Amino acid sequence: MAKVLVLNGPNLGRLGSREPDIYGSLDYAGLVAKLAGTASDLGLDIEVRQSDSESELIGWLHEAVDNESNVVINPAAFTHYSYALADAAALVSKAGLKLIEVHISNPHAREEFRHKSVISSVASGVIAGFGVESYVLALKSLA
Ligand code: DQA
Repeated sequence: MAKVLVLNGPNLGRLGSREPDIYGSLDYAGLVAKLAGTASDLGLDIEVRQSDSESELIGWLHEAVDNESNVVINPAAFTHYSYALADAAALVSKAGLKLIEVHISNPHAREEFRHKSVISSVASGVIAGFGVESYVLALKSLA
């Protein structure tokens, strides 16, 4: 069974109560349950994690390389400025694994600082703007 690590960056643990007009009303536990159901339908072995810490996310990307796990990542605000996360994401792609960047909202339709992603150039693909379905589409593409 193909392994997929689904990583979520800062503030995504607050889904449901965080700006529901932008991010929807499903909470983080609901997202985890939804993705577990999708993965089981698709025959993927997934683990879903969230951290507000750049260092922890980088460690998890290193773990993905070591365990030969594909990655779906919503880097949240780190998308826009974390070169350290981008360097770690590049290691996943260079190991021949897929790394798909996802966003719940469409950052390009929002404030200017969200228009730049430092992750996209090292991602296998980017899916944004479909609400939590962005994650489902990423899992489908990996399956
Ligand atoms: C986000 C978009 C980012 O700009 C923002 O900082 C987030 C969430 C999204 O999923 O739409 O935290 O990555």
